[in-house]
Amino acid sequence: MEQPSSCPRQQNGSEGAPPYVTYAHMDRLHELQQPRSDSPRELTFLLISHVKELLFRAVLVEVDQAREQLRESQVDQACESLSRAVRVQRLLVNVWDTMTAMSPDEFLAFRDILGEASGTQSFMYRTLEFALGNKDPRTVAQCSRSMDLYPELKKALYAPSLYDEALSLLVRMGAKIPRGVYEREPGAPYTPSPAVEQAWLAVYQEPTRWRQAHRVAELLTEVSYQFSRWRATHLLVVERMLGSKPGTGGTAGLDWLRSVNEHRFFPELWTVRTLL
Ligand code: HEM
Repeated sequence: MEQPSSCPRQQNGSEGAPPYVTYAHMDRLHELQQPRSDSPRELTFLLISHVKELLFRAVLVEVDQAREQLRESQVDQACESLSRAVRVQRLLVNVWDTMTAMSPDEFLAFRDILGEASGTQSFMYRTLEFALGNKDPRTVAQCSRSMDLYPELKKALYAPSLYDEALSLLVRMGAKIPRGVYEREPGAPYTPSPAVEQAWLAVYQEPTRWRQAHRVAELLTEVSYQFSRWRATHLLVVERMLGSKPGTGGTAGLDWLRSVNEHRFFPELWTVRTLL
């Protein structure tokens, strides 16, 4: 089908294209958005979806590095990686603004084309959730079929999460946290622990003594905050586009997303606020 808006692509593959195009495969990149309707809104929807997927990966790159750096007790470097992750996350939140330029009738005009396609099937989003530490058994069951197709997804599920690494660092710094909290059976979900809450409380009560741990705590909180902002904005976009119609991925839509929205990464960093 003819693209609904012109895409100034080369006609003969990338032959003779300038280095900017060949180095980053720009021609291939612009071939990837293939709307199935003649709605320019569908093209924008695809472009923005691709941008978001790429940004999920950009966050994952930083989270993976931070995990490694925390494991090696390279706290300054880990904090720099987390700060970079946060910058990308802010961008991810802001990108929602482009989606709300579409009215519900414009979205519904091509929504049927999506069939059963849904963000719940995003292996990149799920890998990021696992790497950060959300290994909810329901989500794990939901993506069990993708596990063999995407080895990195499986690896992230079974590896210690960013939070596990932060907690073992805290222990190496002198906090008292039972080993079973941050070294669980591979793939097992995280259960909030009073010992962890007390460890973070000590950090916030004496920030000068725990300077590095305090910095890690605030950056982790920021990562969690930005993730929740992304979910909350997605929820608002869904309400604006669909009201309470069911989702294409087989969920109840809004109500299901509301329950997902309640989840917080690094839970004790949130509950400790009450104790301060
Ligand atoms: C008009 C725009 C959008 C609407 C109406 C919408 C709607 C929904 C709905 C109803 C769900 C619940 C699951 C289901 O499908 O049954 C969902 C989940 C999800 N959507 Fe969207 N979505 C939109 C745009 C996007 C975009 C652009 C992305 C990013 C690429 C995205 C990523 C996700 C993810 C990752 C989930 C799963 C959340 C989780 O499991 O925690 N959505 N979406």
